Amino acid sequence: MARKLEGKIAVVTGGSTGIGLAIAKRFAAEGAQVIITGRRQVELEKAGNAVGPNALAVQADSANLSDLSRLYSEVKSRYGRIDVLVANAGGGSMLPLGSITEEQYDDTFDRNVKGVLFTVQNALPLLVDGASVILTGSISPGPIKTPGLLELAGPDSVKQQGMLDYMAMTVPLGRVGEPDEVAKAAVFLASDDASYIAGIELFVDGGQAQI
Ligand SMILES: NC(=O)c1ccc[n+]([C@@H]2O[C@H](COP(=O)([O-])OP(=O)(O)OC[C@H]3O[C@@H](n4cnc5c(N)ncnc54)[C@H](OP(=O)(O)O)[C@@H]3O)[C@@H](O)[C@H]2O)c1
Repeated sequence: MARKLEGKIAVVTGGSTGIGLAIAKRFAAEGAQVIITGRRQVELEKAGNAVGPNALAVQADSANLSDLSRLYSEVKSRYGRIDVLVANAGGGSMLPLGSITEEQYDDTFDRNVKGVLFTVQNALPLLVDGASVILTGSISPGPIKTPGLLELAGPDSVKQQGMLDYMAMTVPLGRVGEPDEVAKAAVFLASDDASYIAGIELFVDGGQAQI
């Protein structure tokens, strides 16, 4: 059977763990050349090996404009274009009103706002006509079991499981999701199967947004 992303050049930011890594693996399995980014070099290299020979790992902080410029220069010189861009890098910590610090505010907005905006804006010259641009809000994940989600409960595995159990109760399907379940939706949006779809929010959340 023909692979859905054969020959496509796909950039996945935050591809070293969680949802981004699952997307990178699926994209590579569907025939894409995948460029993954992340800030931690060791995690990134491990992920590059896990994705396989069609992965290029480029260490880059999406909120750092010179990192983005280095990333896109490398993509341009190696591949000349981008067919699929997944602006997935994001996340952060949660603090109650009263405890929020300037540092935590800056980290949240750098990762989830500044990083996403400049990831897309700086990619514009490389995006082909008809390119797929997938934001986190394009595939709106519900609770997905990733390192980033588990970190919200702290390092204690009992507390982590308690958080997952609680979250599962808020989802009509009765469970939290797996990163690969989001990746399958990303493959759909990146592929020709979604050729007349633009600007949608495809909820991959076990039905959570519907209640
Ligand atoms: N899991 C969920 O339940 C859930 C629900 C709704 C939305 N989301 C969103 O889905 C996306 C992926 O989340 P996840 O759960 O897979 O999180 P994760 O396991 O923490 O993975 C996040 C990835 O992004 C990278 N990253 C974070 N900040 C970055 C930055 N400034 N520049 C480049 N890379 C960065 C991380 O690597 P480094 O730390 O090494 O940079 C890591 O590879 C995030 O945008 C998150 O907000 C997740």
